[in-house]
Amino acid sequence: MPVISVCSPKGGVGKTTLTSNLAYTFARAGTKVITIDFDPQNALRLYFGIPLSEEGGFIEKIESNGDWTTAALNVGKNLYMLPFGHSTQEDRLKLDSLLMQPNYFKDYQAALFCNPDVLVIADFPPGFSQALKAMADVTDVSVIPLLADAASIALFSQIENEELLEGPFNNGSGYFVVLNEVDNRIKINREIQEFAASNFGDRLLGMIHTDTSVIEAAAQQQAISDFNRNSSAGFDIEIIARKLATILGFDVKQDTIVMQRNPNQKR
Ligand SMILES: Nc1ncnc2c1ncn2[C@@H]1O[C@H](COP(=O)(O)OP(=O)(O)O)[C@@H](O)[C@H]1O
Ligand SMILES: [Mg+2]
Repeated sequence: MPVISVCSPKGGVGKTTLTSNLAYTFARAGTKVITIDFDPQNALRLYFGIPLSEEGGFIEKIESNGDWTTAALNVGKNLYMLPFGHSTQEDRLKLDSLLMQPNYFKDYQAALFCNPDVLVIADFPPGFSQALKAMADVTDVSVIPLLADAASIALFSQIENEELLEGPFNNGSGYFVVLNEVDNRIKINREIQEFAASNFGDRLLGMIHTDTSVIEAAAQQQAISDFNRNSSAGFDIEIIARKLATILGFDVKQDTIVMQRNPNQKR
């Protein structure tokens, strides 16, 4: 089962926006997707129409070290999500101690990762987390959104030196950066786009324009492209999804993103 982890040293950079909209894009293209929310804020569910009052999640399974898939919700055609759930500090400490066991996901959550036809997209809190480290074992591609602002420049070398986990982001295709909130009207923003392109080369997966549809779609609990078919950010995310599909070895058709597993793909 292919796994994309969406992580970043910073908060407010578009991790949850990208996770949810990649999931919508892949699901619409015919690929079964499950998103996992590793952020204790438990906010990813709100991008999929789950009411605020529904606070269940995998955190309820940690006491018994049970199968997390039983907490997953069907939120649309081809689309599933596994919320973090409402948690106490004690719950989160317990989760971290479970996740410190080597190969936790392979050994204890095999059901989540055993189906080669289901794409997993995981969303994380900002910075280091035990979940991010534990997921590195099963992740194929790490996607790192950064804002196109001056503060991000300081993070470029941190990412290149893989300082976030003090080790590789995964054992698959490595990491790819997405520059979010690009706005060509602003000079410093254009300069940061150029700097990111020269700095990351092929590891710059794409850019997402600043677009008010992103904020409005989130408020309506909708995919950006459902809220506004002509959204530039929606279009940008579709391009990013196609590139990720290619990296993961899916068959990408010209006019639609038809995600069939390439039979030559080993994993
Ligand atoms: N391209 C964009 N254009 C406009 N607003 C955006 C864009 N990307 C994200 N946002 C907004 O920025 C805020 C932070 O995004 P979010 O996905 O929650 O970040 P993170 O998960 O990294 O904390 C949200 O209000 C979101 O709607
Ligand atoms: Mg988030």
